[in-house]
Amino acid sequence: MKFAVIGKPIGHSKSPEIHQDFANQFDAKIEFRKDEVTPETLETWVADFFKDGGKGVSITLPLKEAALNYADEISDRARLASACNVIYKKDERLLADCTDGFGLIKDLEENLKISLKDKKILILGAGGAARGIIPSIIENNPSKLKIANRTENKARRLKEDLEGKVDLKGKSLIFEAGGLADDFLLADSYDLVINSTSISTQAGESIGLPKALFTGTKLAYDLFYSAKKTAFMQDALAAGAEKVSDGWGMLVEQGAESFRLWTNLIPDTSRLLEKPID
Ligand code: ATR
Repeated sequence: MKFAVIGKPIGHSKSPEIHQDFANQFDAKIEFRKDEVTPETLETWVADFFKDGGKGVSITLPLKEAALNYADEISDRARLASACNVIYKKDERLLADCTDGFGLIKDLEENLKISLKDKKILILGAGGAARGIIPSIIENNPSKLKIANRTENKARRLKEDLEGKVDLKGKSLIFEAGGLADDFLLADSYDLVINSTSISTQAGESIGLPKALFTGTKLAYDLFYSAKKTAFMQDALAAGAEKVSDGWGMLVEQGAESFRLWTNLIPDTSRLLEKPID
């Protein structure tokens, strides 16, 4: 079975190792490529890969939105996210799906034992990463969800767009959007603070959050994963967050869901969760 992960940059991707671990659990023989692909070369790459017998591809930045154009069908979760992180072949058709939200919820609720129900949640950032996870978060019934973004208008637009797409009927969710000013950030205390900004990709950079933000925070979660604690995680711990996590578990769990879509096999993620690949 032929698989691949594509994006730019792609050198750092751990997807080949993750999927090899899953395949080994079933004695499945897989080939997993890592290809640098840009939005300009994406259409040709997808056509060639599936013509050559490719079964499924993981899609990472900056291709998640553009890749929707090259699938025959788009799942509901990818439509809600306006992005896909996987395209795979089923019955000769190319299906696009988004397993990022699934991966995050699985990591939060099952691995880290943080139930989202009736919780207050703050999401920092309003880009593609935030858009990809918010529908799944809402599905799990928090009492309050706030999006805070450096560019306040972008947070407002994202909230309005999601309100038009996500089914909020029957939910008693308080949903707000704002900037990074203290009055908005400190108007509540949060059970869960999620960093979806791209700041953790810039070593040493900090959003500059007020310390009091983390009073009462059970978990500060960075969607980014790295061998060392990110600046966001360090700041949250220093300011009193009970627990911090990077996005390694989400990466493993979204991968497991992608592997299931590709093969109908459900891998055990426990070994990878315990021992991140260096
Ligand atoms: P992604 O697809 O990873 O979400 P993106 O769409 O480029 O990437 O969004 C990046 C997010 O990180 C945005 O919310 C951005 O804030 P702006 O909308 O104001 O640009 C946020 N971000 C990036 N650098 C930041 C910084 N130094 N401080 C605060 N937020 C930052």
